[in-house]
Amino acid sequence: EVERRVDSVLKLMTLEEKIGQLTQFSANWSITGPVMSDDFQPYLEQGLVGSIFNATSVEGIRRMQQVAVESSRLGIPILFGQDVIHGYRTIFPIPLAEACSWDLEMMRRTAEIAAIEAASDGINWTFAPMVDIARDARWGRVMEGAGEDPYLGSKVAEARVIGFQGGGDGKALGELQTVLATGKHLAAYGAAESGRDYNTAELSEHTLRNVYLPPYEAAAKAGVATFMASFNDINGVPATANRWLLTEILRGEWGFNGFVVSDYTGINELVPHGVAEEEKHAAELALNAGVDMDMTGATYIKYLKQSVEEGKVSEKNIDNAARRILEMKFLLGLFYDPYRYLDEERAKRNTLTPEFLETARKAVAASVVLLKNDNGVLPIGRERAVTLALVGPLMNDSVNLNGEWAGLADRNKSIPILQGLTEKYRGSSVRLLYAEGASLTETSPAKIAEAVAAARRADIVIAAVGESYHWSGEAAVRTDIRLPEAQRQLLEALKATGKPIVLVNLSGRPLDLSREDETMDAILQAWFPGTQGGHGIADVIAGDYNPSARLAISFPRNIGQLPIYYNRKSTGRPVDLNDERVDYRSSYLDCSITPLYPFGYGLSYTTFTISDVKLDKPSMKAEGDRITVTATVANSGDREGEMVVQLYVRDLIGSTTRPVKELKGFRKVPLKAGESREVTFEINSDDLAFYGSDMRKKCEPGEFKLWVAQSSDDNGLEAQFSVE
Ligand code: IFM
Repeated sequence: EVERRVDSVLKLMTLEEKIGQLTQFSANWSITGPVMSDDFQPYLEQGLVGSIFNATSVEGIRRMQQVAVESSRLGIPILFGQDVIHGYRTIFPIPLAEACSWDLEMMRRTAEIAAIEAASDGINWTFAPMVDIARDARWGRVMEGAGEDPYLGSKVAEARVIGFQGGGDGKALGELQTVLATGKHLAAYGAAESGRDYNTAELSEHTLRNVYLPPYEAAAKAGVATFMASFNDINGVPATANRWLLTEILRGEWGFNGFVVSDYTGINELVPHGVAEEEKHAAELALNAGVDMDMTGATYIKYLKQSVEEGKVSEKNIDNAARRILEMKFLLGLFYDPYRYLDEERAKRNTLTPEFLETARKAVAASVVLLKNDNGVLPIGRERAVTLALVGPLMNDSVNLNGEWAGLADRNKSIPILQGLTEKYRGSSVRLLYAEGASLTETSPAKIAEAVAAARRADIVIAAVGESYHWSGEAAVRTDIRLPEAQRQLLEALKATGKPIVLVNLSGRPLDLSREDETMDAILQAWFPGTQGGHGIADVIAGDYNPSARLAISFPRNIGQLPIYYNRKSTGRPVDLNDERVDYRSSYLDCSITPLYPFGYGLSYTTFTISDVKLDKPSMKAEGDRITVTATVANSGDREGEMVVQLYVRDLIGSTTRPVKELKGFRKVPLKAGESREVTFEINSDDLAFYGSDMRKKCEPGEFKLWVAQSSDDNGLEAQFSVE
């Protein structure tokens, strides 16, 4: 039915109008909201705009839609797009933080809430989820993805797509609380050399297919409506001009039938990339490769008509691209009622509701990773008669808490940690003192003295330190990922008081916390937690929430280790991790090859054990078969908590080298103190399949090791099976 209707519209359209559908303009801004710039108003009136980006507010969007629908010849409605990444008005923890929760239902729900808020404001399309695998903490956009692992990354991609779109079949797109999602950035944007944003990605097809592509494929399989081409080149071909990637793999192999948008001026950038002579050539390369919509670059609208006339681009390709975009407009119901998303009352009702805020608070607590906790310094319950010195540049901060890509939220309204702790301990026996001690980058003897004085009068110090929100995100790359000097000076002075220190680190990336790991008593990695940051962090500090998050990305010991990831290759000269100093092994002279904190790692206020790992059979077939793995997990401590049970495998011999470990399953299991449960995993032949030397995906017969573990470096419980 949709196809028939799209075709009937297409038949009425001129070539120019079809090209208009492939064009996205960016709305300008005035103090009170979006205004239409003179630049694209005439295009809108002539029906030559497919989508508008960055238009906000029901009123602003209605104004633009009205021009498109009422002034243009065919009255085709506009699609309104926006970067709704980890919330729209209610801001959730940054995506990397949420990935550390390993709680897929929670991630689905936070994406769903973001969609409800955005769609209530008239937004139909989000440029999320970002599903780029990231192995290099220098790259500022690690904050926006799900970390380093293809398996976890794929599960998170699927959960987020379903959260935004309400299901994979496109039917829920017609509901008023869903938006189109975008799998981005296709592909390997996270493989930018040396972590420098937009830089070349030089990687083999083997690594591309086995490591980087799986989360995009998972997004496609989950029914994502659109993909965004990445800025980078891959082995010499910019993604935006890469037909192999955008057409052969995306449409041919994965069966994707939504549309592909460029990343901003990615098409124009084919000129400085050096593969297009000028912008007209760039537009031809991009369209022919499979980019259906030009985001803000205006190359299609300027040149494609001429390119068709010259036979450089076929009208059939233009029709196909226009058809895909029109189809989404139909699915959203915009053809039936272009104003159906626009309702001021609904927008008010669906913004920052108590339920959304409560979900955000829980998401914060579920995303905070406890990295260290010597002598049980945490939690600090309300019943304890202690004085806490609350210090650090991010203790009384709200502006940074939302992190980058924080929608339309008011940064001044996020709950500072100081406020969260003050409310938490009000009326209790815990007393609080506060001194800032340092800003993010500067301090003075007087400021430090004030913080030290507070520490001396206290029993425990809590220091909130870390990054400015501007230090991660797009084009925010760092070559020194330690805490800035001023903050380190503050921590050293506090350390000299001899008081136990709890470090709360807020950052958009893993930092080099080697020094702090030596000197601090407890470390909480709180990322950028969003609107409810202070409350969620206070819940963890006070023990009302027992930390359950596990790292979705490795923390390096120093910047020289980057890129670092757990699923590395063995090499022909693997180093013995118990004795790394042996010569002529793949190791460092001055550092271990292991990370400071590995993927999958995180502590709890309780302790867990795993035992009785059993396989239902010793071997399975290479096709259409499965093995069932069971294990007993127990809470061996005295507090209720949640354990993330992780299943890793190693394919011992392959037609190509295989990773030393690969995650193939996980379960988040709630356990009361003393409780034990059996968990079950199934490993099927597809889970073990990979692209081998013939670049075909299959499960190769041979021997496999398996671990049911609490972290990627936990080798405690090993089993073996074979594939025949
Ligand atoms: O969606 C983003 C993309 O991730 C990076 N470049 C800009 C786009 C639109 O804001």
